[in-house]
Amino acid sequence: MNTTISELKNYDGKNVILNGWVYNIRSIGKIWFLILRDGSGLVQCVVVDKETDKSTFELENILTQESSISIEGVVRAEPRSVGGYELGVKKITVHQIADEYPISHKEHGADFLMSNRHLWLRSKNQNAILKVRHQVIKATRDFFDDNGFTLMDSPILTANSVEGTSTLFEIDYFDRSAYLTQSGQLYGEASAMAFGKIYVFGPTFRAEKSKTRRHLTEFWMVEPEMAYCDLDENMDWAEKHVSYVIQWCLEHCKEELKILERDTGKLEKSIPPFPRITYDEAVDILKKRGVDFKYGSDFGAADETAISEEFDRPVMIHRWPSEIKAFYMKRDTENDKLALGVDMIAPEGFGEIVGGGQREDDHDTLLSRIKDHKLPIDPFQWYLDLRKYGSVPHSGYGLGIERTVGWICGTKHVRETIPYPRTMYRIEP
Ligand code: 4AD
Ligand code: MG
Repeated sequence: MNTTISELKNYDGKNVILNGWVYNIRSIGKIWFLILRDGSGLVQCVVVDKETDKSTFELENILTQESSISIEGVVRAEPRSVGGYELGVKKITVHQIADEYPISHKEHGADFLMSNRHLWLRSKNQNAILKVRHQVIKATRDFFDDNGFTLMDSPILTANSVEGTSTLFEIDYFDRSAYLTQSGQLYGEASAMAFGKIYVFGPTFRAEKSKTRRHLTEFWMVEPEMAYCDLDENMDWAEKHVSYVIQWCLEHCKEELKILERDTGKLEKSIPPFPRITYDEAVDILKKRGVDFKYGSDFGAADETAISEEFDRPVMIHRWPSEIKAFYMKRDTENDKLALGVDMIAPEGFGEIVGGGQREDDHDTLLSRIKDHKLPIDPFQWYLDLRKYGSVPHSGYGLGIERTVGWICGTKHVRETIPYPRTMYRIEP
């Protein structure tokens, strides 16, 4: 019977076949041990002289790390073993003897590992991180699906910028130029006017020239957009969404978080209500902590960390100086200098995971903002239409999947939270 390592608990005492790769081999004379990995987990397989056929026993010095094999054997409960079970080997079938594997179980440099990303994915920690990523995406989809949102894909190829022109990837598009999307938001707004509550989920692209541990040039973003929704309700959705994802992962990624040695204490506290402070209040926190910060500028990574240290769960910062926020943000009716934007900052120095806000819904105001930002008007004609045909207050946000996975896993660099990361210096493998 073919099965997987994660299913062994259902086969105690039974004969099974596992298909996988050699993780490790060690020997103590008349017995040798093989750790097999199959993508679902690791299991110790025990090879005893006399209990296996002769050709199988002799494989000890032939099998190399990552050789592909099938093993037939008997499942035995073994509390001291990883996963609680081991396999008494009867027969090993070899598919391929691997060449000398470049990644051993010792430490390697980050650059070397990234160059071997196509192989590094097989390592225990990388495997765990990407399984958490899967669960973050599943929980996100479930959350929106269960709350009346409709999935609305946005195009990747677009004619307009969303988040400023400095990070646009420009491409030849037949006889004109086009851009890779920076955010699905503008299309999300159009979709929200058609469906009420929607979410966009897909890859987004930014020609980020900075080399930081939080920036990729290709990253995945989920962007809900809600008609008849103001900034406060937008923050309600963001905190419900994030806490749902965290609780889901705490419950369903226990094994992975253990492998990653994640201290889950701070994650457990991430339940609503999340504190909500204004930009001005955040600046006061920095002042009180003696941080050198110029009012009106954006928070850097160190500023975000300092602010987050005041709280035991994610904090939402709202009402920002309008000059540092995008053209589409609605202004605060009580203070025209402030934009109704919101950023959510994760605890423990993981930085901004959510950016969003309430959108400008008046046609003429939006048109003048597009002009103020020196953006070409033509590509925004369809977007301006939304303010001509039944405009309503509406809001939304974007949550970066990689930064969220990084926070949950306690992984400092986002390049480990996506299978094949793209950065300024890397487009392979
Ligand atoms: O704050 P941002 O730029 O907001 C938007 O794009 C809005 N249009 C979203 C919306 O309102 N619908 O990006 C949103 C989130 C950030 O908080 C961060 O988590 C992530 O996307 N992000 C990045 N992640 C990895 N690498 C990058 N270069 C990122 N830029 C943004
Ligand atoms: Mg932002």
